[in-house]
Formats: sequence, structure tokens, C-alpha cells
Amino acid sequence: MIGVAHEAGKLNDLRAILGNDIAVKAYRDGTRPFPDGAIIARLAWEYVSSAENDAVFGQAQSFVPGSPTNVQFSVKDSKKFADTGGWGYGQFEGGKPNRSEVLMNTCAPCHAAVSSTNDFVFTRYAP
Ligand code: HEC
Repeated sequence: MIGVAHEAGKLNDLRAILGNDIAVKAYRDGTRPFPDGAIIARLAWEYVSSAENDAVFGQAQSFVPGSPTNVQFSVKDSKKFADTGGWGYGQFEGGKPNRSEVLMNTCAPCHAAVSSTNDFVFTRYAP
């Protein structure tokens, strides 16, 4: 596990960010750019309150994962994905790949905001 996150606003979700061994090693060692073979997965679920937990705490304060929304992947292959900073992107819903070209064309340009600081990756290793 690399980290967790909560997006409010329209996304309103809870997220887990996971990495394969190559990605996690690069995080631990502080290696940038990430080496080829690094894979980062971002899982997300609807952000829902838990009446069961709230009852125990005696007030509304507990939020847990609801239905899954989508899973996104960043895969590092500096040759194959040379046009997008060495990263290939993918999104899955209900276990199936989303093949929308319009959607896929949004990933790299937005991730480019952190191209120079963290090799196109937003998530920091959870302290
Ligand atoms: C509008 C900007 C934007 C777009 C478009 C976007 N992302 Fe991201 N992405 C982010 C931000 C900001 C984070 C970190 C916060 C979070 O988890 O929401 C992130 C996190 C991720 C992560 C976790 C690793 C990391 O870089 O932090 C993956 C994997 C990811 N995005 C894949 C994708 C894929 C695949 C697409 C296209 C389908 C995409 N993203 C589109 C902004 C964007």
C-alpha cells in the first residue's frame, strides 16, 4: 500500500493507492523517475456514512467504503509510452476496461502537472 485518500466534491469517494513491488521499492528508496515495470493502482469506493458505527460512537462520525466506482492504473514503460512521459493509463469499471478514447486522453495531460516534481505521480508515500 502506498497511501489512502478521500476526494470530496463530485467524486465523493474513498481511495486506496497500491503499488507492485517495483513501485513500492521506488517509493521507499525515493527513486525518480520510477523504473520501467512500476505499476500503481488506484481503487475507489463511494464515501458513505456508517449508521452501525455511528451508533457505537453516539454521534455521526464514521465513513466507510460503499459501492466501488472505478479502478485506475498507471504503468511505467518508458519505451512503449514515450509520448505520455513513460506512463500508460487505464481505467476499469465493474472489472471491465473503459475504452473511451476521450477519457484516456485526459489522464496524461492532467498528470503532467507533477511531471517535474514526482514523475507524473500525485500520490506521496503515506508517512
Ligand atoms: C483532472 C486531473 C486528473 C485527471 C484527468 C486524471 N487524474 Fe489521476 N490523479 C489526479 C490526482 C490529483 C491524483 C491524486 C489524488 C487522488 O487520488 O485523487 C490522481 C491519482 C491517480 C493515480 C494514483 C497514482 C498517482 O498518480 O497519484 C492513478 C493510478 C491515476 N490517477 C490514474 C489516472 C488515469 C488512468 C486517468 C485517466 C482515465 C487519470 N488518472 C486522470 C488527477 C487526475
